Amino acid sequence: MVPDLQERGEAAPLTQVRIAIAGLGNVGRGLLAILHSQADLLAQVGLSIRVVGAADSAGAAIDPAGLDLATLTATKAAGRTVARLPRVGRLDLPLPDFLDAAAPDLFCEATPVDLRTGQPGLGAVRHALARGIACVLANKGPLALAYQELAAQSDLEAPDRPGLRFSACVGGALPTINLGGRDLAGARITDVECVLNGTCQGVLRAMESGQSLDDAVAEMQRRGVAETDPSLDVDGWDQAVKLVILANAVLGRPTVLGDLTVRGIRDVTGVELAAAAARGERIVLLGRARRDDPAGDWKLTVEPTSLPVTHPLARMGADEMGIVYRTDISGVIHATSEEIDAVPTAAAMLRDIIDLHRAGALRTTTSPRYPRTR
Ligand SMILES: NC(=O)c1ccc[n+]([C@@H]2O[C@H](COP(=O)([O-])OP(=O)(O)OC[C@H]3O[C@@H](n4cnc5c(N)ncnc54)[C@H](OP(=O)(O)O)[C@@H]3O)[C@@H](O)[C@H]2O)c1
Repeated sequence: MVPDLQERGEAAPLTQVRIAIAGLGNVGRGLLAILHSQADLLAQVGLSIRVVGAADSAGAAIDPAGLDLATLTATKAAGRTVARLPRVGRLDLPLPDFLDAAAPDLFCEATPVDLRTGQPGLGAVRHALARGIACVLANKGPLALAYQELAAQSDLEAPDRPGLRFSACVGGALPTINLGGRDLAGARITDVECVLNGTCQGVLRAMESGQSLDDAVAEMQRRGVAETDPSLDVDGWDQAVKLVILANAVLGRPTVLGDLTVRGIRDVTGVELAAAAARGERIVLLGRARRDDPAGDWKLTVEPTSLPVTHPLARMGADEMGIVYRTDISGVIHATSEEIDAVPTAAAMLRDIIDLHRAGALRTTTSPRYPRTR
């Protein structure tokens, strides 16, 4: 369990937040690890977090008194399910039933992406928001299919509704949503360029060194960076979904995947990469939102694109992601991050938890904020 700093006699009353986590893979386990390692920093912002539920594909472990994080981590590291843990384990528990049983203040969703149905994440997030449970997502699927619906059920639409945050979905720890949505307030964004799929970036850079596409993808899977289904990366869909979320959340354009033109890196060859290098260029999988007329519609594309090596997104290394915003009054702003595993994505979930707390969008037993239906 996360140490309760109040019990150690340290200052300031802490808000106790009971969280349930779905998905205990690279990201979910990363979140468990940093809930422990950053507990002192959480206390500094007034938070004490207790994990009351943790679900994997076989079921869940639930304990209102708080699950032991080390046991959860060791169980998954040994390749076992938490659903068979003595006393707390429950096999075959669909996520809505898991949420009802765990009754958390906050739901952290890190199950695999399914772009056809959005499940199991979409049903679980709908269920949570309808019951007044705030949500932090790492899984892009629910937002790809139902951004407008979920936003309307949350504090993004009305402050008395449960909080919804998803910065982990668009570039992990790279602050894409916060930069465009908060820090460019008052400016008009005229153009967005982004390289937000770590797998394609790593694969293209490895192919420049002579590796085959298949070998490079296998390496990204081994490192836990590739999607559970890596064709989502290679065929451009992961990058496309990130652009869909960004268009909705930052550009204010109601957008679905069908609005985008999408081409992945499957057909990019070593010969093309070498030819680009000879021209002083570099091929990246570029997501772009642009419009010629400030009052006109955005054109949204994802495709392999050759950029001059002086371009901020062409200068990036194999483990980097980046975004460039062009604006009318704030100039050109670009940000990049280097993320070698899934921990920074878990860190983005933690950032969102703190943001919800600061925004007063967490309804807990110690700080009731909005009505909760059960
Ligand atoms: N990895 C990254 O760097 C990264 C970055 C940004 C966003 N994301 C997103 O974060 C999410 C998780 O990624 P990941 O790399 O952690 O995936 P992962 O390693 O494949 O882990 C997926 C987890 O979800 C569990 N799961 C599968 N079906 C489930 C169900 N029906 N109910 C409950 N749990 C279920 C799996 O259970 P088992 O343990 O039983 O298999 C596993 O624990 C994905 O949506 C991904 O797109 C990942």
